[in-house]
Amino acid sequence: MAPASLSRRGFLQIIGVTGVASGMGLPFVAQAATAVAAAQALADEGLSQVTMKVNGKSQTLRVDNRTTLLDALRDHLQLTGTKKGCDHGQCGACTVHVNGRRVNACLSLAIMHEGDEITTIEGLGQPGKLHPMQQAFVDHDGYQCGYCTSGQIMSATAMLHEAWGPDDADIREAMSGNICRCGAYANILTAIKQVRKD
Ligand code: FES
Ligand code: FES
Repeated sequence: MAPASLSRRGFLQIIGVTGVASGMGLPFVAQAATAVAAAQALADEGLSQVTMKVNGKSQTLRVDNRTTLLDALRDHLQLTGTKKGCDHGQCGACTVHVNGRRVNACLSLAIMHEGDEITTIEGLGQPGKLHPMQQAFVDHDGYQCGYCTSGQIMSATAMLHEAWGPDDADIREAMSGNICRCGAYANILTAIKQVRKD
């Protein structure tokens, strides 16, 4: 990740590296200088570069430092399956997996995810090859309008790897961060129970 602005210390560190490198030949020095110039140009624009693996594919983005992970996924990578509901961490519509754990993408800055593995609903399964949780939501009508559904499914699949008890109340508690305005909760519960049983 490129720094938002090069600190004096960071600049001196780079110069120090460059100084040591001078004994290693001109091309290395030229490369280092180019990298410094590129990072500074980005910083001057208020941008940073971040590289993350999204659905198994490495992606390098140049984003405004304030860009959320949610907006990076939707606006920069056109992965619009992840939804923006409240944009305040209250509804769970934006849930994705970061290194296998569920996260509200609207509460996380993209530049915090250098080197992270991100999975969105598009990476979970596709038509014709659905993840068992996606299939269970279809089988049990675990949605009405569908706006909350990708977040529900991402949360539910992450929950399978978390230490929750076997009861319905445990599932409800585990899923309490995902709000469904259509009130499809009963069918969502049935879908999750099917996958947990299987
Ligand atoms: Fe992220 Fe609502 S959009 S929690
Ligand atoms: Fe409409 Fe959940 S299915 S908000």
